[in-house]
Amino acid sequence: MPDTIPTALPAALPALAPGHVRHGSSIGQPLTRRDGALKVTGAARFAADNHPPGMLHAVMAVASIAHGRVQSLDIAAARAHPGVVEVMTSSNAPKLARHPDQTGQPFTYKLDLLQDDRVRYANQPIAVVIAETLEAATEGALLLRPTYAAEPSSTSLDQAERFVPDTVGVGSPPNETSGDVAAGLADADSRIEATYDTAPQYHNAMEPHAVVARWDGDRLFLDTPSQGLSMAQARIAGLFGIDAADIHIESPFLGGGFGSKGAVWAPQVLGIMAARLVGRPVKLVTRREQMFGPVGHRAPTRQTLRLGADRDGHLTAVDHHTLTASSTFDDFFEPSGRVSHTLYETPNLRTTHEAVRLDTGTPFFMRAPGEASGSAALESAVDELAEACGMDPLAFRIANYAEQEPKSGKPFTSKKLRDCYARGAERFGWASRPLQPRTLRDEAGLLVGWGMGTASFPALMMQATARATLHADGTGLIELGAHDMGQGAWTAFAQIGADGLGLDAAAVELRIGNSALPNAGMAGGSAHTATAGSAIHDAATAAIRALADLATGDERSALFGAGNQGVVARDGRLHRKDDEQRSERYADILARAGRASLSADGKAAPNAANQAQYAAHAHGAVFAEVKIHPTLGQIRVTRLVGAFAAGAIINPRLVTSQYYGGMIWGVSFALHEHALHDPRTGRVMNANFAEYRVPVNADIPDMEAILVEEDDPYVNALGVKGVGEIGITGTVGAIANAVWHATGIRVRRLPITLERLL
Ligand code: MOS
Repeated sequence: MPDTIPTALPAALPALAPGHVRHGSSIGQPLTRRDGALKVTGAARFAADNHPPGMLHAVMAVASIAHGRVQSLDIAAARAHPGVVEVMTSSNAPKLARHPDQTGQPFTYKLDLLQDDRVRYANQPIAVVIAETLEAATEGALLLRPTYAAEPSSTSLDQAERFVPDTVGVGSPPNETSGDVAAGLADADSRIEATYDTAPQYHNAMEPHAVVARWDGDRLFLDTPSQGLSMAQARIAGLFGIDAADIHIESPFLGGGFGSKGAVWAPQVLGIMAARLVGRPVKLVTRREQMFGPVGHRAPTRQTLRLGADRDGHLTAVDHHTLTASSTFDDFFEPSGRVSHTLYETPNLRTTHEAVRLDTGTPFFMRAPGEASGSAALESAVDELAEACGMDPLAFRIANYAEQEPKSGKPFTSKKLRDCYARGAERFGWASRPLQPRTLRDEAGLLVGWGMGTASFPALMMQATARATLHADGTGLIELGAHDMGQGAWTAFAQIGADGLGLDAAAVELRIGNSALPNAGMAGGSAHTATAGSAIHDAATAAIRALADLATGDERSALFGAGNQGVVARDGRLHRKDDEQRSERYADILARAGRASLSADGKAAPNAANQAQYAAHAHGAVFAEVKIHPTLGQIRVTRLVGAFAAGAIINPRLVTSQYYGGMIWGVSFALHEHALHDPRTGRVMNANFAEYRVPVNADIPDMEAILVEEDDPYVNALGVKGVGEIGITGTVGAIANAVWHATGIRVRRLPITLERLL
């Protein structure tokens, strides 16, 4: 199993946009994915591709009620099936060192691990059948024929009692006010009040959660996809009462993560328990329909926005109320109001959150948690207020441009949103948009609408460590327990390492995706490149400094006496800054010192002083065209242009891909995704890819992502802000606004489906 990726570069690279390339550096180069060939040839080994000798297959049985108890399981029938080795239920499941409802570590949530017979949500695991083959385990699970003592369930925002959660998101206050919203609304010349519903969405990465677990005494070996290797070690260590250092996780490739693989969920732990129970390696792969419950989802929201503006179209108040839901047994509250803290200038601002408890799995992070649903509502409401003011929606947004972060009053580390507006609008042709809705038709008679939305997402920093090594043969090595869930870390991190080491990317080996490597924190919050990349940069800088020490202190070196600040690393050589002609190859420096290699550690952490002083966000503007059949109501997105400013761009090809991915999810959010719970049983009625609709190729038009240049001197040493989540944030509102512009109908319930236009 390679956790080292071949470093071969593609033969031909497309031309570069000027400005995206640091001269002589691999940062800014649009390199193709290092892991691309492995993936398209099937050679990349995902967790479930592993088959240790003696491995058994485990299949979960899951609850078909949303609330109650398991009354009976036909364990005898399942056991009697040929090939079935064991049936794990609450009566024989290994007891855990820590009850799975006992959480406390960051990002740990209560898990249903067969410690009792209760059912807290539909599709909750209630048994695991372990067999010699996948087919036998699957058949055994069907033979269990559970009976239940069902209790009433509620799965809709309408049904349950509201309360104000202690915190929303990660420790944010639920209610925040500055100024006087009531007075601001009273003073307004134009005002709107509107309520928007967003649907629950379930995590459905291409690769479902999976584990191959092998015990060796109290040492545990796992293949499982992870966005947070060290957090996974800690969680599993706590559950099994073993040392985190005795848990070895391999996670070189993920078939998507989107937040869901930032935590360890019940299916993975059940696979580990099954392996312990039978004393053999076990593979457990979550079936597609089992993704709709135990692995986190985006909670539904109902958001009420009240906005006011004066005669000139300046906001006088923003009041953003969110109703959302957590599970009956744990807390995760979608922080939808947060986006209103940053986007538009207003003297009076209030964000409030309420929640209900539902008989569902616990919601969790899903690509742009908070901002995706929050900006869908805010961007629609802003469009409605622009209409009320008789203003062009883009002109309205520019009139309310925030020069400082409205909530905190802090300046931004950088903000090139004006450029995003200008370049996106120019490319899209926004200037010729008629103000009135339902005025554009195409040659086929379809209604045409143009809408836009502002995109934003916080630029976060977390903690990470990394190690950089220079070898005597002139090559480099970067090692860290980083995660590539498809975003391109295999490629981008090698580029950052190559930049720091003054080498060509092809000369730098990268090792990631393994818990034995230096702790690289988590891949989440669009912060992995900023965080792990900064640790790589720090390690590489330290390695070069150590190498420079070897040379500048040695009379035999051309660099003797230059001092640490007096050399620059480039093309595998150290050059004197005061005389670039005087230089020396790394290989020669190491050889003279008798060293086979030289290593240095690096780390990254948030800069508290900068955070206290500045607000850090990426920004963008998304423009959408829709075409709608005037009588059938069929909706197609026919054009999408997004312009984004997110600090330094490590690899424009990969960043463009992230923007596309985010914008495609925006299409999905606006027009497709909707998990439907049966109000009588609480079951998810469309827990499959036939009826839980996601966009396919035919739903996605030609898209364009414009990479707006932005230098950020404060956000981190690399100037990187992060790009993984922002693409979804402007797109949902842009499409909803385009639907209004095409039809004159405001649909305030997402996803927008054709029956709402008839
Ligand atoms: Mo993200 S939703 O923090 O992977």
